[in-house]
Amino acid sequence: MQQSHDRYVVVGNPIEHSRSPEIHQAFAAQFGEAIRYDKVLVEPGEFASFADQFAAAGGRGMNVTVPFKVDAFVYVEKRDALAESAGAVNTIAFTGNSSHGFNTDGIGLMNDLSQRYNVNLSNKTVVLLGAGGAALGVVKPLLEANPAKLIVANRTLENAQALVARHQAQLGKDAPIYAQRLDELSAPSDVFINATSTGLYGTGAFIDANLVRGAFCYDMSYGNAAEFCRWASASGARQSVDGLGMLVEQAAEAYYLWRGKRPLTQPVVDQLRAGLGQADEL
Ligand code: ATR
Repeated sequence: MQQSHDRYVVVGNPIEHSRSPEIHQAFAAQFGEAIRYDKVLVEPGEFASFADQFAAAGGRGMNVTVPFKVDAFVYVEKRDALAESAGAVNTIAFTGNSSHGFNTDGIGLMNDLSQRYNVNLSNKTVVLLGAGGAALGVVKPLLEANPAKLIVANRTLENAQALVARHQAQLGKDAPIYAQRLDELSAPSDVFINATSTGLYGTGAFIDANLVRGAFCYDMSYGNAAEFCRWASASGARQSVDGLGMLVEQAAEAYYLWRGKRPLTQPVVDQLRAGLGQADEL
């Protein structure tokens, strides 16, 4: 009789590009475990019905990517503190009849920054570029790293203001977080973190090049989409790195939440990097 493996999925739209199955299979292999991990294209408006079906069929865990992280937040019965503060869920654990939502994006980013790149944000001026789904999960962990200032800079000011207001409501008006329009950024900053989706549309040059000169620049995108990473490097950043490490770190946290084991991340970053055929640092 065929053994039935614990089932996991990543859902999104688009989803074809997702590396999550490869990452989680590599983690499972580290422990000699066998899991089933599929990627599923879900149509807008159909997240909840898909999640219901998956849970009813005995699915154990789900990763959630663009554009469903807010749908997942609404869907789950319980949430951890990071998901609650983000208003977005990227990982769901199904146990018994219950669904528990988490957001591992922030842990992924912070682990990558501190462990892979030795970046300490304490007393630094940090600019988070973008206020969409990718930015939601990282604001609280970034503030917890005690920057002098966290500026959320966005093309549409209202979206940055909403993100800032959400965190001020949780952390108090004194939290050092500010909203700005991208084209009003003027002072150079120590660290830039790109959470916009501009790389998907083939551009990394959406702020003044003078701003990033000498700064540490982090692009949450990777591979072909890491246009900001390449642009910042060419514009004189002190160091410019892509988000492949964050991808693997957030997945490792999800694996731990689901299966109680912490996989090694560096071999998996190396494996993916070899597939992309490029260096992480530019
Ligand atoms: P998501 O589903 O993750 O929210 P999105 O709607 O494509 O993805 O946008 C993600 C972020 O990229 C947003 O901050 C968006 O800015 P707006 O709030 O103004 O829409 C930003 N973004 C997308 N295209 C951009 C562009 N060409 N220039 C600057 N920012 C852009």
